[in-house]
Amino acid sequence: MKTQVAIIGAGPSGLLLGQLLHNAGIDTLILERQTPDYVLGRIRAGVLEQGMVELLRQAGVGQRMDAEGLVHTGFDLALDGRQVHIDLQALTGGKTVMVYGQTEVTRDLMAARQVAGATTLYGASNVELHGMKTEEPYITFDKDGETFRLDCDYIAGCDGFHGVARQSIPATCLNIFERVYPFGWLGILADTPPVHDELVYARHEQGFALCSMRSATRTRYYVQVPADDKVENWSDERFWETLKSRLPTALADALITGPSIEKSIAPLRSFVVEPMQYGRMFLVGDAAHIVPPTGAKGLNLAASDVSTLFNILLKVYREGRLDLLEKYSEVCLRRVWKAERFSWWMTSMLHRFDDQDAFSQRITESELAYFVDSEAGRKTIAENYVGLPYEAIE
Ligand code: APR
Ligand code: PHB
Repeated sequence: MKTQVAIIGAGPSGLLLGQLLHNAGIDTLILERQTPDYVLGRIRAGVLEQGMVELLRQAGVGQRMDAEGLVHTGFDLALDGRQVHIDLQALTGGKTVMVYGQTEVTRDLMAARQVAGATTLYGASNVELHGMKTEEPYITFDKDGETFRLDCDYIAGCDGFHGVARQSIPATCLNIFERVYPFGWLGILADTPPVHDELVYARHEQGFALCSMRSATRTRYYVQVPADDKVENWSDERFWETLKSRLPTALADALITGPSIEKSIAPLRSFVVEPMQYGRMFLVGDAAHIVPPTGAKGLNLAASDVSTLFNILLKVYREGRLDLLEKYSEVCLRRVWKAERFSWWMTSMLHRFDDQDAFSQRITESELAYFVDSEAGRKTIAENYVGLPYEAIE
């Protein structure tokens, strides 16, 4: 088999890169370990920055998002009972975010790829990368009991945090930066109306809580739990009680509860690998970096990596600009680290840390009070939340 760009992973990174390249006449083949239903069964992020919204439109997959997604012009911070509105639109000169689930983005991208007639091989196992430092890289993999070889010009490692691409780079060529937090998020999905028309991020002495949504009739709520907690410990009743106890009274009273249709615990981690490339292989999205979900940045960072790699490959194929290839990692990392910082900051400000001493706690409270009471502080939060600009590739 042969293609121009071999993509490992059919999550949002791989599918979006594949769609943009396909539209530009560049041939791609995606190798995915799982089935399409498995990929669509994962409940993940739900807030898209304007840059990602525009990229999805550019890729020709924005129709359903524009029809069904919810444009949010702000969000609320609930700080130990006090509710502060962050008016994203007013604070950023008109920018907003789109509430539209990652599952739906993935579904739209899968459908577009099928219409385009581009190949995705699901159920591909034992994916191995070869010749990454040569001009003729290739991939071997097994499917339906047979072993195949896929020759290509470039490899995009879009295979998430546990993927094979990053692990194929010799450890001596990588620097890893990591922080693991001593808590996770217990999330539930429920067919109930949202408690508030915008997202509410709540800081409370017992721990963080988040009120989010997928539509006017489907909600996604989270509460901070210890890192080693188990879903089995959490009945729906216990979840709703805990959530209510961490919200301002008016919201707690207005909360409509119902049976959960999904319940899971996600650990919180900050992780960056440098560089994000090795020869002709490029790491994209979760394969290269993880952020704690508090800033809603994970999916959006994947999109900005995709944009950078797409724009570089476009100039490589159309203008012979091979010099741009070595710039991929440095361009991505500049934006990645800013989003890492913001996600770490939001996490630090809004969660309960059991080991925090009384002095540090007052400093955190005072830092947060400074940010929300000052227009400059609210602007800083808003401009990070709507997403920092993508760097042009020239
Ligand atoms: N071979 C083939 N496919 C693989 C392999 C492998 N060895 N390892 C992993 N994959 C597939 C996974 O099954 C998954 O479908 O790669 C895909 C990676 O998808 P995601 O984990 O969703 O990562 P990505 O596409 O970068 O999406 C961005 O950012 O913060 C998050 O929620 C956000 O999941 C989203 C991510
Ligand atoms: C979500 O809806 O799943 C969600 C929203 C905002 C976040 C994290 C998760 O910061």
